[in-house]
Amino acid sequence: MDKLLIRGGRPLHGEVAISGAKNAALPALCAALLTPQAVTLRNVPRLRDVATMRALLQRIGVQVQTHGERGGLTLQAADPLDPVAPYELVKTMRASILVLGPLLARCGRARVSLPGGCAIGARPVDQHIRGLQAMGAEIAVEHGYIEARLPPGRSRLRGARITTDMVTVTGTENLLMAATLAEGETVLENAAQEPEVVDLAELLIAMGARIEGHGTRRIHVQGVAALHGAEHHVVADRIEAGTFLCAVAAAGGRARLRHGRADHLDAVIDKLLAAGVEVEAGADGLTVTSPGGAALRAQSFRTTEYPGFPTDMQAQFMALNCVAQGPSAVTETIFENRFMHVQELARLGARIRIDGRTAFVEGGQRLSGAAVMATDLRASASLVIAGLVADGETVVDRIYHLDRGYDQMEVKLRALGADIERLA
Ligand code: EPZ
Repeated sequence: MDKLLIRGGRPLHGEVAISGAKNAALPALCAALLTPQAVTLRNVPRLRDVATMRALLQRIGVQVQTHGERGGLTLQAADPLDPVAPYELVKTMRASILVLGPLLARCGRARVSLPGGCAIGARPVDQHIRGLQAMGAEIAVEHGYIEARLPPGRSRLRGARITTDMVTVTGTENLLMAATLAEGETVLENAAQEPEVVDLAELLIAMGARIEGHGTRRIHVQGVAALHGAEHHVVADRIEAGTFLCAVAAAGGRARLRHGRADHLDAVIDKLLAAGVEVEAGADGLTVTSPGGAALRAQSFRTTEYPGFPTDMQAQFMALNCVAQGPSAVTETIFENRFMHVQELARLGARIRIDGRTAFVEGGQRLSGAAVMATDLRASASLVIAGLVADGETVVDRIYHLDRGYDQMEVKLRALGADIERLA
């Protein structure tokens, strides 16, 4: 099991390239199910989760070819397809649920394993199911599987007005993809506005879908009889960019994050500026300059749906708050159990008290290196950031969590001058 060995205390200088967004690439791969024609994606990040999704799509019958240049994939979902997503694949990646809507729209039926919970919360998919039922699907959940089909005599889903009980990113994406081939108009109320949802909508429009309002809380879709192939460049990963912003903020130094987009990180950048970090938006990237965590002011924040402070940046910014001066309160409103990094940060010397959904961070701590364990994707990133500023050696174990969502993080950090290496 791979580990990362980090010797802290070195500032970061130089330039790294931000990869394509995991949470845009995963739905984009599933969108290829909506047409028998070839869909070409560029800037697809090399991640474990992308490899898992490829394996799932290939099992369903999609041909997937890798291009020579960085991150190019061509997918072709020619008939016949086997619309089944088995437990052994779905249990390793919740985002597998994103094949449900496209398979139902394309094949008229789908058998998708329930994803089950994960470390950060129960993460049910009831909104996905309710929305598809509103579009006419007959759905039963039995033996751990979602069994979905169209009623006898119907060859297509029908458009509907759907209001989800809460904002759900993959729920919006599943229903959006299903609606593109439904009969008539679908209106998604309470839709997610994340840039990854917008990126998916842009791919679907390139495939011939008729979508308006993506990026707002209300999305209108006019269903069409068929979609065609397209080419699409996956949007840069705002969470990877935000993670590197926090890493440079904490370690100190000056770095350029090529392809990073300030307009996708307003809430995080606002907090970094208030902390005393400099962030400049350039033509194709971000430049971040910091005196180091100990010279910064800790910032309180609460996670909310986009465009608010992203839950996927909560653990990383908390690591920064541990070393910045002053107390801070971090409130997690999206997931019920997304503070597992707290105990591990405490092993490095952080002083954090959890009270319900809020973690109270003491700040101004001098962290000291220790052996710690990654528990989920963004917690892993938080521990790496803490290791960069801790005195001495930090070993982060179980970094397969990190590899799910970061494309060679240690290689990029080493390019910025960090003393970090992967131990097999
Ligand atoms: C997406 O997960 C992201 N994953 C997550 O990123 C991200 O943390 C999350 O959105 C929130 O921004 C992908 O896009 C692949 P939700 P998703 O549905 O869609 C509840 C990462 O680190 N809910 O927006 O699963 C749910 O329990 C990952 O890259 C229901 O109750 O999240 C949660 O409390 C982690 N029923 C809230 O809504 C449903 O049917 C938001 O979840 C759906 C969701």
